[in-house]
Amino acid sequence: MEEKNEQKSYSMPRIGEKAPEFKAVTTQGEINFPSQYKGQWVILFSHPADFTPVCTSEFMTFATLEKQFNEINCQLVGLSVDGLYSHIAWLRTIKEKIEYKGMKDVEVKFPLIEDITMEVAMKYGMMMPGESNTKAVRAVFIIDPKGIIRTIIYYPLSLGRNFDELYRAVVALQTADEFSIATPADWRPGDDVIVPTAGSCGVARERMESKDQMHCYDWFFCTKKLDKDLIFKKIKK
Ligand code: BEZ
Repeated sequence: MEEKNEQKSYSMPRIGEKAPEFKAVTTQGEINFPSQYKGQWVILFSHPADFTPVCTSEFMTFATLEKQFNEINCQLVGLSVDGLYSHIAWLRTIKEKIEYKGMKDVEVKFPLIEDITMEVAMKYGMMMPGESNTKAVRAVFIIDPKGIIRTIIYYPLSLGRNFDELYRAVVALQTADEFSIATPADWRPGDDVIVPTAGSCGVARERMESKDQMHCYDWFFCTKKLDKDLIFKKIKK
């Protein structure tokens, strides 16, 4: 007998592409993604399963930091391949029963998508069969106000995310857009930023000769100061 060749299609969105569109049911009602977030930054993230410890620690942390993300015009949207009633029950348990690292009475106010059909998880490459066939990995998509994917980060099931890094990444992307600069390794607001590489011999020479404003390690690697307050004045809502 001929074997049925049922191939699942695992697509992988890429940085610089439009975020795939979908409509979904969430703990905050229906969402129309990404169009309803036009003009805002969004972190769309998946987690493996409700009522699991690493995910619980992540949701409590994200919910506690939500205001800080909203202040830089960034919304949070979660997803797992569980159903809506599981989501509701889990979020109620978190609020009513869990105290963790000084966080308690934590209300998750951002939407958590139900995706039992795995439609969205498949579209966004959140399923990694080598890790699990039934649970999404910890994927993070940072999407800009035009609906373009700007950063993608993946973590396996056992590794909880670093939320300072996610905040740093959104601030760095916004700073790069606002000030036409790039950010070096381990950059934090207030550290020097990288100016675009010289595009001509004249500019390269000028930069190497300039004593103020810029510091050039070599003609292709120049940095300048960028005040932290100025950054937050620009990016805060
Ligand atoms: C957790 O969130 O604790 C977890 C979820 C799935 C697999 C392993 C750990």
